[in-house]
Amino acid sequence: MRRIGDRSQDILRRDDKVMPLLTRSFELVVDHAEGSTVYDVDGNSYLDFAASVAVMNIGYNCKKVKDAVCAQMEKMVHCAFSDFSAEMPVKLAEKLCRMTGYEKVFLSNSGAEAVEAAMKLAFWRTRRKGMIAFYQAFHGRTLGALSLTSSKVRHKEYFPSLPVVHTHYAYCYRCPLNLEYPGCSIACVSEIERIIFKRELSPADTAAIVVEPIQGEGGFIVPPPEFHKELKRICTENDVLLIADEIQSGGFRTGKFMAMENFDVRADIVCMSKSIGGGVPLGATLSSSEIMSWPPGTHANTFGGNLLAAAGGLATLEFMESKKLGEKAAEKGRYLMKRLGELTEKHPIMGDVRGMGLMIGVELVEENKDPAVEKCKMTIKRALEGGLILLPAGDSVIRFVPPLIISKDEIDRGMEIFEHALKGI
Ligand SMILES: Cc1ncc(COP(=O)(O)O)c(C=O)c1O
Repeated sequence: MRRIGDRSQDILRRDDKVMPLLTRSFELVVDHAEGSTVYDVDGNSYLDFAASVAVMNIGYNCKKVKDAVCAQMEKMVHCAFSDFSAEMPVKLAEKLCRMTGYEKVFLSNSGAEAVEAAMKLAFWRTRRKGMIAFYQAFHGRTLGALSLTSSKVRHKEYFPSLPVVHTHYAYCYRCPLNLEYPGCSIACVSEIERIIFKRELSPADTAAIVVEPIQGEGGFIVPPPEFHKELKRICTENDVLLIADEIQSGGFRTGKFMAMENFDVRADIVCMSKSIGGGVPLGATLSSSEIMSWPPGTHANTFGGNLLAAAGGLATLEFMESKKLGEKAAEKGRYLMKRLGELTEKHPIMGDVRGMGLMIGVELVEENKDPAVEKCKMTIKRALEGGLILLPAGDSVIRFVPPLIISKDEIDRGMEIFEHALKGI
C-alpha cells in the first residue's frame, strides 16, 4: 500500500499555504511519468486511469512530442504570432482543418479560452445575446464559460452571468423527466422547442446551443443516438448555431477524433483543447469560412498559437494518427467495458457503466439507487493507496480515461486494484 512520504507531505503543506484556490482532493505529488505510469516524489508508482483529466491521450513522456518541442525551443521560443506569422502554428491549423473538415481555426491556450472564443464568435455572427446550455454541463470557469457551466453550481453564485438558459441533458440513468428511453421520444430535447423557445429565450434571441457530445465533469453521461441529431435539427430549423465542446471528449478519446462523429452530427463551431497539445497548453476553436468570418482583431491573444505549443500540438496530432489511437481507443474501450461489466455482476454498487471508446464512467449507487457519494470518494482514495489513479465526475461517478496507448495488461492490473478498492468500502 502506498503512503504519502515525507517529501510529498512537505510539498503539500507548502502548496496549501500559497495556492489555496486549488482543490487538491488527492494527496499525490507527482515527479515524473512514462506511458501510463506516474511516479511521485517519494518513488511510488501509480497506474494512471485519469490521464491528467483526459489530457495525456498519447501517454506520458512521448518522445516524438518532446523532440518536437525541444527542437522548436532551440530555434525560437516565442514570436508575436498575432502581429507576425510563423510556419509552425500555420501547419498546426492546417492539420486541425484536415483532421476535422473545418476551414478556420482560432488558437488559444486552454479549454475555457476555446469556449470563450466560440461564444464570442456565435454572438458576433448572429448578433444575438442569449445561449442555451445543459444541466450538469462543464465548459470552464472564466466568466463567459462559467455562464454555460452548471455542474459546479456553488462556484457560480457570486458571479455575474451572461444570458444562458439551462435545460435537461439526456441523463437516461436518472431521467430528469422520469421517463424511459426509447419510449420517451427524447422529450428532454423537445423541451427546447416546447418550453424554452416559447417561455425563456426565443430563437430570435438565441445565438447558440452549446453541448458536450458526452458530458464529462457532469458524470460521464452518454446521450442516446438521436439526441445530437435532434439538437442539430432544432438549430437548423431555428437558425441557431450548434457549438460542440469537444474539450474532454475529443482527440480520439471516444474512438473518433471528434466525439460528435459517433453521432453523425456536425456542429457549426467546435472547441478542442486538453489532449490535442499532448500536455502542452493548447486550445482551438474551429468553424467554417462562412461562420468564422469575423474581421481581424475581433478576437486575439498573446500566446495562442505560440511556437512551443504549436510544435507540441502538431507532433501530438501526427503521433495520434500514426499510432492509430482512434482504433486503439475503440478496441481497448471495448475490453475495459467488458471487464467493468464483469465486475458489475459481483458489485451491485456499480449501478451503471457507460461510455464510448476510452471515455467510460461508472456510477456508484446505494441500494435505493441514490448516488453513493461518500463510497465513491472512498473507492478513489483506496484505489490511489493501491497504486491506481482515478478521478470522480458528477455526484458519484468514477471516470476511466486512461491514456489511449494503455495495454491490456495494464487494464487488467487496474481492474484488480479497482475491485480491491471496491471490496474495502
Ligand atoms: C468539456 C470541458 N470544457 C471546458 C473545460 C475547461 O477547460 P480548461 O480547464 O482548460 O479551461 C473542461 C475542463 O475540464 C471540459 O471538460
